[in-house]
Amino acid sequence: MNIAGKTPSESAIEQNVYKVFPNDLNSKYTVFGGLVMGLCDRTALIVAERHSGSACVTAAVDSLNFVAPARSGETLVIKASVNRAWNSSMELGVRVLAENTHSGESRHVVSAYFTFVALGENGKPITVPAVVPKTREEKRRFKEADRRRKQRLKNRKQ
Ligand SMILES: CC(C)(COP(=O)(O)OP(=O)(O)OC[C@H]1O[C@@H](n2cnc3c(N)ncnc32)[C@H](O)[C@@H]1OP(=O)(O)O)[C@@H](O)C(=O)NCCC(=O)NCCS
Repeated sequence: MNIAGKTPSESAIEQNVYKVFPNDLNSKYTVFGGLVMGLCDRTALIVAERHSGSACVTAAVDSLNFVAPARSGETLVIKASVNRAWNSSMELGVRVLAENTHSGESRHVVSAYFTFVALGENGKPITVPAVVPKTREEKRRFKEADRRRKQRLKNRKQ
């Protein structure tokens, strides 16, 4: 397996789009949260698999915040990228916007961090490529990811 480092842009998803229809709504006529969580998980999974080059599973989700509701007729735009990788695990940042495709206006609706673990053929965790941050934003995310991981591992232990 090639474990040379990779930049976040090599695996990032800029725009995974999902058009919201009436059957996607909850009883308050806003988008059902579980649908958005599933879209985030699937999008982050693709980024993790692109980065690691292998099958991955979700190990943890944290800081999942529903910042604003999305409504029928809007388009959910899901963005995901890898912030940092350790041995077999990776942190992925996900951001969801609700876009009015007629006006082009959009607003932030959800943010979350997903931790994925890459698995080998035998189902055991395997080493993944390091993340090589290039831009200022990527470097900030890379640095902050280590602090979040420490907290996650502390929570896991508890
Ligand atoms: C995630 C999983 C593969 C970890 O396996 P494990 O035998 O516990 O392996 P380890 O303890 O060696 O952990 C492997 C890596 O995952 C990380 N990890 C595991 N749980 C974690 C958590 N809650 N938060 C952050 N990282 C976690 C470890 O820190 C380690 O990272 P590293 O290799 O980069 O140092 C295993 O717990 C699993 O299969 N869980 C179910 C996954 C699943 O079904 N997901 C779908 C959810 S519906």
